[in-house]
Amino acid sequence: MYPVRNPYAPGAGQRPPELAGRGRELDVFDVVLERIARGRPERSLMLTGLRGVGKTVLLNTLRSEAISHLWGTGKIEARPDQSLRRPIAAALHMAVRELAPRHRAPDRIDAFLGVLKAFAQRSTPPSGRGGAAPKLRDRWQPGIDVPASSGRADSGDIEIDLVELLSDAAAVATDVGTGIAVFIDEMQDVGAEDVSALCAACHELSQLGAPLIVVGAGLPHLPAVLSAAKSYSERLYRYQRIDRLDRIAADQALCAPAEREEVEYEQKALDLLYEKSGGYPYFVQAYGKATWDHAPRSPITAADVRVAAPEAEAELAVGFFGSRFERATPAEREYMRAMATLALVDGEEGGRDDMDAAVPTAEIARALGRKPASLSPARDALIKKGLIYSGERGTVAFTVPHFGRYLRTQPA
Ligand SMILES: Nc1ncnc2c1ncn2[C@@H]1O[C@H](COP(=O)(O)OP(=O)(O)OP(=O)(O)O)[C@@H](O)[C@H]1O
Ligand SMILES: [Mg+2]
Repeated sequence: MYPVRNPYAPGAGQRPPELAGRGRELDVFDVVLERIARGRPERSLMLTGLRGVGKTVLLNTLRSEAISHLWGTGKIEARPDQSLRRPIAAALHMAVRELAPRHRAPDRIDAFLGVLKAFAQRSTPPSGRGGAAPKLRDRWQPGIDVPASSGRADSGDIEIDLVELLSDAAAVATDVGTGIAVFIDEMQDVGAEDVSALCAACHELSQLGAPLIVVGAGLPHLPAVLSAAKSYSERLYRYQRIDRLDRIAADQALCAPAEREEVEYEQKALDLLYEKSGGYPYFVQAYGKATWDHAPRSPITAADVRVAAPEAEAELAVGFFGSRFERATPAEREYMRAMATLALVDGEEGGRDDMDAAVPTAEIARALGRKPASLSPARDALIKKGLIYSGERGTVAFTVPHFGRYLRTQPA
């Protein structure tokens, strides 16, 4: 069918033509916004899930939702080895700018911006002894016209500074009767010290009943990252597991956009599409897109799906799996291959791997004939690259759905 009218959108953070199966998450968020606006205690939200399940897309939708409630919002995408100080300053700058036109006292906004500037320009001293002396003022300019103030949020200790900065931002939101939401994507990549500071700040704000929440999204081990930083983090956040779509939602993701183009699916086509995608949103979009392009007419049939599937798979192999696999060194690839083999139960496709089960690291060492400790560097590097995660001690799993299956089809 006419490819120009193809509605499907496989791609990182690409807004789907139909956000299917996330009604519960959206409802929860609405309640959170309402409660906070009324001064009720609420926890910050953390969305966790595998690659391609739609965390970024959901985070963006929640952000739009907050904006429609007249909240101030800002968003960060965390990166390994990057300090949170500047990105969070930029996000809060954005959030407060959204609120400023509704504030009756411009000097209060300026006072906050002065604190924000001081915060942003204060470089965090390198941790550990013997590091270079901290610079008092960085030359970096955050694009704030107001002069930096001093004495607040500029101690250089990220934990103290973040608590002060976020409380001041929340006070601005209180003045205008709404709130501020800071969205942090790839939150598992925030450094240990910064995570700890964020938890402390969220803890403090929730005790004060201040209208500022953090909404994070990350890989399934995000809860472990947070509780390693602060033991109370389990109670501090509300975790929501973002998972593959169930059959009804997956069908809706395909059918609703098609209907708008006056195209229908035969039941058997939907059966086969669900079998292929496993309900993973990225795959739903990828198979949907290829099938649309190949189908000569409506209704789309199972035969159309069968013809299109190899193309979808070839595209996934390059764009979704291959691009990630290429980030790994030869030693890391060997490690993942061993994982992929062990993820198969009874040597059959459709075993443990399809349930995203974890593999004990001791088994991987045994399979490779190595000492477990000698494999730690490969494991740690793969975790840092976001290819595997360790949800439970002593085990690892792929962050990418169907990655094990993909690796087993690749020649060594
Ligand atoms: N609820 C949904 N219904 C239909 N399609 C969706 C849904 N959520 C996401 N998608 C589609 O799935 C794909 C992946 O979405 P997204 O990039 O948000 O995933 P992610 O979890 O952030 O992945 P990663 O961990 O790689 O960042 C996109 O093509 C998007 O259009
Ligand atoms: Mg994402």
